[in-house]
Formats: sequence, C-alpha cells, structure tokens
Amino acid sequence: MAAAPQDNADLRVSFAGLELKNPIIAASGTFAYGIEFEDVVALSKLGGFVVKGLSKEPMTGNPPPRLFETPAGMLNAIGLQNIGAKAFLEEKLPRLRELKNTLVIANVFGYTREDYERTIHILNEGDGIAAYELNVSCPNTAHGGIVFGTAPLMLEDVVLTAKRAAARPLIVKLSPNVTSVAQMAQVAEGAGADAISLVNTFLAMAIDVETRKPRIANLTAGLSGPAIRPIAVRMVYEAAQAVRIPVIGMGGISTASDVIEFMLAGATAVQVGTASYWDPCATEKIVDELDPWCVQHRVRRIRDLTGAMLSD
Ligand SMILES: Cc1cc2nc3c(=O)[nH]c(=O)nc-3n(C[C@H](O)[C@H](O)[C@H](O)COP(=O)(O)O)c2cc1C
Repeated sequence: MAAAPQDNADLRVSFAGLELKNPIIAASGTFAYGIEFEDVVALSKLGGFVVKGLSKEPMTGNPPPRLFETPAGMLNAIGLQNIGAKAFLEEKLPRLRELKNTLVIANVFGYTREDYERTIHILNEGDGIAAYELNVSCPNTAHGGIVFGTAPLMLEDVVLTAKRAAARPLIVKLSPNVTSVAQMAQVAEGAGADAISLVNTFLAMAIDVETRKPRIANLTAGLSGPAIRPIAVRMVYEAAQAVRIPVIGMGGISTASDVIEFMLAGATAVQVGTASYWDPCATEKIVDELDPWCVQHRVRRIRDLTGAMLSD
C-alpha cells in the first residue's frame, strides 16, 4: 500500500529548555524591538526574535554614513544604538509580554565585564524575556580594546560572569573574526553557555574611489547578507562538531532552503538578519515556505534535519 501523502510537517524545535513553534528567529539589530515590525510581520508566526543589543545606559551609536550596500551584502557600523536596558523594560517589554507563543530574546553587550553583569541584572527584573544572547563582538576597554570574543581567556571570563548573573538561559553569540571558531565554541560551552549562536558580522571596509573617502564614517564595519553565507555555514558546521550544546546558525539566510542548509550543517534553529532590510516581511515569508519545503521533501519533523548532512 502506498504511504499516505504528508499533510503538514512538524516544525517545532527546542534548545536550552525553550520550545519554539518553528526554527525561525529574527536576528538582533535587524528587527528593532520587535513591535516596530508588527504592521508588516505577524510576530506570532515567528519562532522568536532577538531585540536590538541592549546596554546598561542608552547609546546614540555612530555618526552617519553607517550603512552601505555591497554585492550580495551590506556593511553596517550602527554602533549599537539603543534605548538602554531600563527603558527597554519600561517602554517595550509590556507590549512584548502580550506575545504568548513567540520567544523574546534580549541581546546584551558591554565594554567591560561589569557592563554585561549590570545589564543582565537590570533585565532579570523584567518578565517576558525567554533568554539572553550575549554579543561578545565588542572591544574590552579595560583590556586595550581587544574584542571579547576573539581572546579565549576574555571570552571565558565574560561568559562565566554572564552565566552567574543570568536568571535565564544564556546564548553566546560568537564572533566570526577568529582563527578557530571551534575553539571559541568550546570555551563558551566550558564557561556555561546553554547554547551558542553564530555568526555575527565579518569585519570589513569599503572606499569610494571617486571621493577617496571611506564608505562608512567609522572606517571599518560589519559585513552581513548572502555574501557571507557559505563562510557562515562552514563556521556553524565546525562549531556544531566541536560542542554538545545547541547551535543557532545565521549569516545571509533569505529562503527556506538557506534555513535547511544551516540545519544540515548542525544548527537547531536559525536567525534571519539582513534579509529584513531588503524585505521587511522576510522572516514571515521564510516561515511560510518551510512547511511546503518539508512536505515536498517528505521531511516529517524539521528537527530531524539538524546535523543530517550526508558526507558522501
Ligand atoms: C544593521 C545591523 C545591526 C546589527 N546589530 C546587532 C546587534 O545589536 N547585536 C548583535 O549581536 N548583532 C547585530 N547584528 C548582526 C546580526 O544579528 C547577524 O549576526 C549578522 O548580520 C549576520 O546575519 P545576516 O547575514 O542574516 O544579517 C547586526 C547586523 C546588522 C546588519
């Protein structure tokens, strides 16, 4: 007897004790505080979203120009502009709490270990945050400006501190600007991370040859979008091979098949960033594509695809 045609796929995934209705999470810095996207995206359809990076005090960010489009990508040096953790709790979180089945993840950054600790302590006071995502791609001003996530001992120290402070699961978002992302993934796991996410943007630069001026006022900027996807897939694969904790993959995702590619490389869930700049509805559209993709490919449970790449 022929197998019955498959009606729907089971799109649920879970990591760090959190249940998501599907693996699609909007990435930090590309989805504001979520509610700003309410008119164009049905937030309740997303597995979750990560809000803009939050610091202990509000920040105005870098001077313009801060964005520049490149072939299949984008440079940004926004400078982590945000309203600060306290204002987030007061002005944004009450609305976000109304979303019952979509995870709200708070992205946290700082320039010293104490900054991270203080911001997490403030956020611990708010109800409705599912987890913290630690952005470790910031310079440590107490240690000569070395980026936290590029030096194993500094990464270990900030993750240990954040884990002690955090009243919620801790996702550590790794920098791709390292020689061995597998080593950094292991350091984060050893220091208590409940999951890791990667990649953040790649350090990059562009110059206008007519004016001979940098395209971005900050000189250097972060490259994101489809241009980085194959490098991100490679790094997600290497990280997933190196640790036992779940891996959340991102970098240039704009279609359901991009999502599947990251899952085959070892990701449990994914984040969608720059795609929302080109099409504000991108996250919801990708969610809509997932079920047909799975049905067509006879995948009953999307979570079975995690790490299911065939080597030959
Ligand atoms: C404009 C912009 C702002 C970003 N801001 C943050 C941020 O505040 N914190 C963070 O951890 N990552 C931030 N990122 C990085 C993204 O979350 C993501 O890791 C990266 O862009 C790669 O994914 P993508 O190619 O899908 O955009 C930002 C990216 C962009 C393009």
